[in-house]
Amino acid sequence: MRFIVLTLFKEMFDAFVNTSIIKRAIERNVVSIDVLDIREFTKDKHKRVDFPPYGGGSGMIMSAQPLGDAIDYAIFSLEKYKKKIKIIYMSPRGKLLNYNISKKLSQNDCNYIIICGHYEGIDERIIDEYNVEEISIGDYVLTGGELACQVLMDSVIRLIPGVINQESLFEESHTNGLLEYPQYTKPYEFKGRKVPDILLSGHHKMIADYRRQESIRITRQHRPDLINNEIIPKKEGN
Ligand code: ADE
Repeated sequence: MRFIVLTLFKEMFDAFVNTSIIKRAIERNVVSIDVLDIREFTKDKHKRVDFPPYGGGSGMIMSAQPLGDAIDYAIFSLEKYKKKIKIIYMSPRGKLLNYNISKKLSQNDCNYIIICGHYEGIDERIIDEYNVEEISIGDYVLTGGELACQVLMDSVIRLIPGVINQESLFEESHTNGLLEYPQYTKPYEFKGRKVPDILLSGHHKMIADYRRQESIRITRQHRPDLINNEIIPKKEGN
């Protein structure tokens, strides 16, 4: 899977591509992440990439010319791989990212171009011309799309088979619609708090039941909205 990121702040991706699981996935050629500077594509003699909005209003809008040329270049670079190319714009007005969207993006047999906006947004004609999908990572506004883009790529890449242990994916929050149960490791006692006895019992079925009940308890407590989706029974046990 290939990602081409379009941004005005390339340096924000340095740590992301050089750390831990993402770094390893790149080294093993499971993914590639190329980061392009949108400013390099501007034809403006002052290297400007943003202008005030037509019709007035606050802030600046990223102009269609440099962004369009950057997208054309990214498409050209990816075409040789003969896979579908999906273009995503990280935007607070986009579809809200969740586990299912990340899973679907990880399973698509396609390559991605991700636009990171700054200022007050991008010229709408880019979205129309390139059939861009808008994705938000939450109901708040960031100063730019770079962090959101990293959140999106991280959540997708870790779901690609072979990137991380499949067993840990199976048990984690959101895979079955529930949040993850509490976990403990050594030492057995910490500041007077002991590990629940059942986890030391060696009784796999009872441990699995206990963990499921705990998952339901935590989901009810932290995210009651999730309880109403179909995967989780409305009431289980108590
Ligand atoms: N850019 C600015 N805010 C954002 C958000 N909440 N999600 C995605 N991209 C953004």
